[in-house]
Amino acid sequence: MSHAQKRDFEQPASFTFTPESMKEVDAVIAKYPKGYQASAVMPLLWIAQRQHDNWIPEKAMEEIARILDMPKIKVFEVATFYTMYNLAPVGKHHLQFCTTTPCWLRGSGEAVEACEKHLGIKLGETTPDGEFTLTDVECLGACVNAPVVQRNGDEFYEDLTPENVVQLLDDLKAGKKHPHGSQDGARHKSSGVEGATCLHEQAKSAGIKIAGEK
Ligand code: FES
Repeated sequence: MSHAQKRDFEQPASFTFTPESMKEVDAVIAKYPKGYQASAVMPLLWIAQRQHDNWIPEKAMEEIARILDMPKIKVFEVATFYTMYNLAPVGKHHLQFCTTTPCWLRGSGEAVEACEKHLGIKLGETTPDGEFTLTDVECLGACVNAPVVQRNGDEFYEDLTPENVVQLLDDLKAGKKHPHGSQDGARHKSSGVEGATCLHEQAKSAGIKIAGEK
């Protein structure tokens, strides 16, 4: 379950997918063979979260159970297992820091500490203005560019330092465009900071241009 679980909030009395969301729901369900529509539970939870201000109310889980003709508890089990689903309101910018070993070894602790100090909140908390929620999660699958933070489930910022992560916070708060991906300026996508090394000579002799090289 996400660490950003607030206790003092109200659940809405009902939930319905908007017509736009319903189109997405139908498209997802159509991908599965008849009788296996329950396999669509994860994308449907995601669509509900996107529609509902980045968190999933209980009524949405009930609606998903109804649409997929599956027991409510099965939907609850999935939603409470994965940190990608928020079951309580979060800030406008939900920042999920990976603190698993590779990120930790590369300085996630310092990056988190810099954010906590800058925002005046701890992991698991939301700023009083509702702008930021900080949480820690397990591996986000981008270890090669550790340390990593994910914003609102689908934007990644990588190679974090205490300095560049504070700049990220300031840009998000100001509504400025901030580049995704590696923040150190030296790395090309997920290649090593030393540039291409494997099969380098072979690529050259075959006339293949290596990305990031002149
Ligand atoms: S350990 Fe942080 S992304 Fe994998």
